Amino acid sequence: MPKRPLYHRGGTAAPSAPSAPSAKPLCPPAPDAPTPLLGGLTPSQFMRQYWQKRPLLIRGAVPDIAPPLSREALFELAASEDAESRLVSHARGRWHLEHGPFALDTLPSVKRREWTLLVQGVDLHDDHARALLDRFRFVPDARLDDLMISYATDGGGVGPHFDSYDVFLLQVHGQRRWRIASQRDLTLKPGLPLKVLQHFEPEQEWVLEPGDMLYLPPHIAHDGVAIGECMTCSIGFRAPSANELLGQFLYYLAERSDLARSRAGERLYRDPQQAAVAHPAALPSALVAELGAILARVRWTERDLVSFLGSYLSEPKSHVVFDAPDRPLGEAAFIRRAQSVGVRLANKTSLLYGTRTYFINGEQSQLPRRRKWLFELADARRIEGKRFVTLSPDSSMTALLHEWYCAGWVRVGASS
Ligand code: SIN
Ligand code: CO
Repeated sequence: MPKRPLYHRGGTAAPSAPSAPSAKPLCPPAPDAPTPLLGGLTPSQFMRQYWQKRPLLIRGAVPDIAPPLSREALFELAASEDAESRLVSHARGRWHLEHGPFALDTLPSVKRREWTLLVQGVDLHDDHARALLDRFRFVPDARLDDLMISYATDGGGVGPHFDSYDVFLLQVHGQRRWRIASQRDLTLKPGLPLKVLQHFEPEQEWVLEPGDMLYLPPHIAHDGVAIGECMTCSIGFRAPSANELLGQFLYYLAERSDLARSRAGERLYRDPQQAAVAHPAALPSALVAELGAILARVRWTERDLVSFLGSYLSEPKSHVVFDAPDRPLGEAAFIRRAQSVGVRLANKTSLLYGTRTYFINGEQSQLPRRRKWLFELADARRIEGKRFVTLSPDSSMTALLHEWYCAGWVRVGASS
């Protein structure tokens, strides 16, 4: 590990009782504005000095933090089909892993030691969690994955391990001891239901209090153990592997290439010149040559790369179901309401854009002729009422937003 994994102090925690974080989306800090979230660094400095390079401990990153969800609300979310959850426990030296959903009465008692419940994608379901995640939007949305909450009883944790993604570990309740190491040996213990390192040689350790945060780049070994009951938010960033990108792009191309769309794509392999063989198990070289010839005809342009990436990265995860309004407003009423209270993207919506096209929840469209509003909505995830008034003479915008509202992709007002 570089010898500089610095310790930064952010804002000082106020003595008042912690309050739930505001559900009002906070704009991400501007790239060149120092922020307590990053220990007084600007996002630009953080990205240059730490992102994907070295760990950073930030004391008081979010002063006055409180868990976005209470313990009960988290357990309730873990009981629903809509959220991915895992239960990890450690008893008599053995690790156990179970996948949710977990009915309330199937979770261990909170009095029992050494268990932890991990709930992924809490930002999709809770405005406070989404608002917390929004603070990290100085990193492109295409990299942002989700906000996971882990609840643990004393001694609970998932064991020493490493992750393949960047993560901000924000302590939101109680204390957790984190130990980290830059070791090269990332061999895992064989035969376990979860990834636990065979040898863990911690180099640094800290006890994180509510509001403290630890940033870890990929492949830094770490182990977080609860000291008493605690809750931690992990803001995780996905980084697709070359294999994933290649496999998915080829699949995308196969469906959309000129060949696939033309009659030629249905043409069957023909071998009128095939001679009788004495070795029937041998692969015919003409068939190998045919595949080579098909692949040689496949072409792609930068537009295909953008289309694929935008659609793939804005695609909702498979379990995501959008909540459309039961009795949606008609278009005129929708416009009046939006002019008063604004609109915002639903927490489950992903909206990305390129130079010619935009992508909403996996669907690609051409950017409209008047497109400024779309960039504003995508970047801020909301349009204020006043701004909506200025924009609303654009009937193609209001019609599209109304359509998205009816689909549950856009909400009217600041919170659900
Ligand atoms: C946890 O919050 O318990 C685990 C998070 C992690 O180590 O990635
Ligand atoms: Co981890």
